[in-house]
This record gives sequence, structure tokens and C-alpha cells, in this order.
Amino acid sequence: MRRSPVAVRREDQSEAQVEAFRTLFQQQSERLWSADRDIEWDRGAQIPDAKRDAWLRMMNVFHGLEVMGLDTIQVMMGKATHQLRNPSLNLYLAAQCQDEARHVYALDRYLTEAGGHGYLSGPERFLIERFGGMASWGFYRVENWLISTLFSENFAALFLQQTLDIPDIDPLAKQIFRLILRDEVRHVNFLHTILPQLVDELSPLGRSYVWQSQLLLAGATALGLRRIKRDAQTLGIDVDGYKRTLIENLDVQLRDAGLDRFLRIESYQRILDIAV
Ligand SMILES: [Fe+2]
Ligand SMILES: [Fe+2]
Repeated sequence: MRRSPVAVRREDQSEAQVEAFRTLFQQQSERLWSADRDIEWDRGAQIPDAKRDAWLRMMNVFHGLEVMGLDTIQVMMGKATHQLRNPSLNLYLAAQCQDEARHVYALDRYLTEAGGHGYLSGPERFLIERFGGMASWGFYRVENWLISTLFSENFAALFLQQTLDIPDIDPLAKQIFRLILRDEVRHVNFLHTILPQLVDELSPLGRSYVWQSQLLLAGATALGLRRIKRDAQTLGIDVDGYKRTLIENLDVQLRDAGLDRFLRIESYQRILDIAV
């Protein structure tokens, strides 16, 4: 039986993806760090008194987002692998799931040792939980999950990078952030491997559904940003600069993944501008 050129192309693409997922899996094992051995816990947390509350609230938000991310990846791994019919995807996602578990563990241990748990208010906890729920429920769950991950990974990576530049931020936390960032960069690379094909195969109905979900998600994030704005400023993060860089990074990533055909960066910008 002759195969159509489209079928042949698709198969080639899948084979390239199998290899790409396996390479990412190998990279994860080569650069694996231990949350107990590779972090100098003995130095203890050193937080300036004037920044203590703001810092611990931000760390609680960050920890909450990692907990939510770990919960979501565990729900979505099997669904994504079955939808793409690609066993190598499970291989890689298991590694990414382990990364997220390590992030949760390291941040939890940091907050425990700094006496910093419990700084989140009810609305903040609600927003974080909504973000996780919205990213993995309803129709087109796999697409919605991966696209919202593109947003949240960029959001988190930028927070980590900007915090590393602030001189009086706790050196212990900076050490943890550098290790987490190493993983998050790989997570973004993974999204660049998987998203173009997934987006290509979305029907017009799927695109409009995903478009609506993503804008709702951006709205929830913007509300969250508004709540942490004052704390971020206290710590020395330039919130407007953060927002500008986030939009610039996201613009490039949406175009790379072919998402700019239906997810306009201007819409993200408008939502962020209204809320923050
Ligand atoms: Fe993470
Ligand atoms: Fe991640």
C-alpha cells in the first residue's frame, strides 16, 4: 500500500520526536542534582529583617506553584502519552515529574528550615489551585496543559533569573534557584519539541477552545501578579521590567511553537496591563 506524502511526513516527524524525547531524558540524568547533597543547608537562611515577610510570601507562592505543577504533571503524563501514541514521551515526562518533585522537596525544606510556611492568604491559595485546575480540565486537556506550561515555565524562569540579580537575597535560596533553573530551561526545550506538531493538528474548534482557556489562565495569573506586586517591589524586583521581559520572551516562544496563529501576544499584554 502506498502512503500519502502527509503520512510519510508525519511518521518522520514522530521519529524525530522519539529521538528528541530520549535525548532530553538523557540530559536530565546527566545533570541530575540532589536536593540533600548539592545544597549547602548548613549555611541556613539569611534574610534581611526588612524583607523577611515579603520574601517568605513570595517563596510560599513559588512553592505553591511547584506543588500545583507536580500534581498536574502526574495527572497529565499518561493522557499526553496516549494522545501522542509515543512511549518515549512517558520516558521523558517521568524525568520531568521527578524534577518537579525535587523542586517541591527543596522549597519545602527551605521554608521549613527558615520557619516560613503558612504565609499565603486564602485568596492566594485559591488562585494557585485554580491555575492548576484550569490547566488540566475540560476539553483539549493535553494541549491546554502544555501551552499553559509554556506560560508558567517562562513566568517562573524569569522570576528565578531576576531574583538571582538582587544582591541581598538569601545565598542559600540563590543556590536552590540556580539548580531549579537548570531544570526549568530543559522543560522549556521540551515544550519547543512537542508543541509545534500538537498545535499543527488542532482543529479550528480546538484552537478557539484553547484560545479562550489560555486567556482565562492569563487573567488568573494577572490577578496573582497584582497580589504579589508590592512584595516584589519590596524585594527589589522591577515589576514593569519583569512584565515587559515576560511578554518579549513569550512572544518569541509563541512564534516558535506556531501558536501565534491564534494566540496573540497583544491579548496577553492587554490582560497583564489591565491587572498590574
Ligand atoms: Fe519546577
Ligand atoms: Fe518545570
